[in-house]
Amino acid sequence: MSTSVWSGAGQRIYMQEVGTRDGLQNEAIFVPTEEKIRLVNALSKSGLAKIEVTAFVSPKAIPALRDAEQVLREITREPGVVYSALVPNVRGAERAVESRADELNLVMSASESHNLSNLRMTRAQSFAGLSELVKAVHATGVHINVSLSCAFGCPMEGDVSAEEVMAWCRRYIEELGATGVTLCDTTGMAYPTQVAQWVRQFKSNWPSTELTLHFHNTRGMGLANVLASIDVGADRFDASFGGIGGCPYAPGASGNVCTEEVVHALDLMGYNTGVDLDKLLEAASFLPDLIGHDVPSQILKAGKRLDLHPCQVG
Ligand code: COA
Ligand code: ZN
Repeated sequence: MSTSVWSGAGQRIYMQEVGTRDGLQNEAIFVPTEEKIRLVNALSKSGLAKIEVTAFVSPKAIPALRDAEQVLREITREPGVVYSALVPNVRGAERAVESRADELNLVMSASESHNLSNLRMTRAQSFAGLSELVKAVHATGVHINVSLSCAFGCPMEGDVSAEEVMAWCRRYIEELGATGVTLCDTTGMAYPTQVAQWVRQFKSNWPSTELTLHFHNTRGMGLANVLASIDVGADRFDASFGGIGGCPYAPGASGNVCTEEVVHALDLMGYNTGVDLDKLLEAASFLPDLIGHDVPSQILKAGKRLDLHPCQVG
């Protein structure tokens, strides 16, 4: 292939796998603990920058992840991979720190209605609770990332303004000292020009804070949103192997952008994701049997662009 069509020029893009959290939380079936550990171990060997292993939430709310402690404790950790866990409250943070999470991913919604349905709190209550949480774990030195759900639109309220989103980012970064922020498109409402505007505003306000974009492919705009973000300086993306995922508390939510689709596209364009696509595809190939249904990944179905087929003549 001629290098003339490449545009990435080796630029580093950090891929963060969320399938074992965002994906499995949404499955009716309970994937056995040892199989979850096997999946995380396979993902760990594929060169991903970060893996959101699980969530320390109420086991009544999300029974699929009721084995969070055991999974996080028993995985084999690869040097250089950050092992993160989603936590909604102090109780979750204590469980995650005891299980040696490298990073706590705190969650709050940018929209009031989604926060009420997902976390049963107002946003002000969430912020107060998460402030307590940050104080409680401060001495451990664990990294704090804050995920803002519905940052590009809410399925109950509609548009969420950039000003609203940036105001919450400011509070988490400047008041609580968050090391990173993730802007989540929980139900696939983001579109490329909007995403570019949010990323530009964030980068100009907080150039040294880690920014992650978390897109769902609900309306087919996931990969376009990734590319639009990269064009304006973003370099970290959450994605799900197999393209699984979705929020149980958001009407119409569906899968995350698919890790292997993003990696496949970025590889072709000359970006450096650090991910071994074959290893990633192998991990994703275990999913249909484990969750009992087909997965959205187009690369699992079609193969890579240059996986050639015999020529059938006559
Ligand atoms: N870990 C384990 N158990 C927890 C917990 C945690 N982090 N947080 C709450 N619980 C338990 C409580 O002990 C209580 O159990 P009990 O009924 O046996 O006494 C029960 O959950 C309810 O706790 P409460 O403090 O009243 O909270 P709540 O019912 O308002 O729940 C959340 C709030 C957010 C903790 C809960 O709804 C939750 O975990 N939701 C999952 C959100 C999620 O993962 N969404 C998708 C990803 S964004
Ligand atoms: Zn999500």
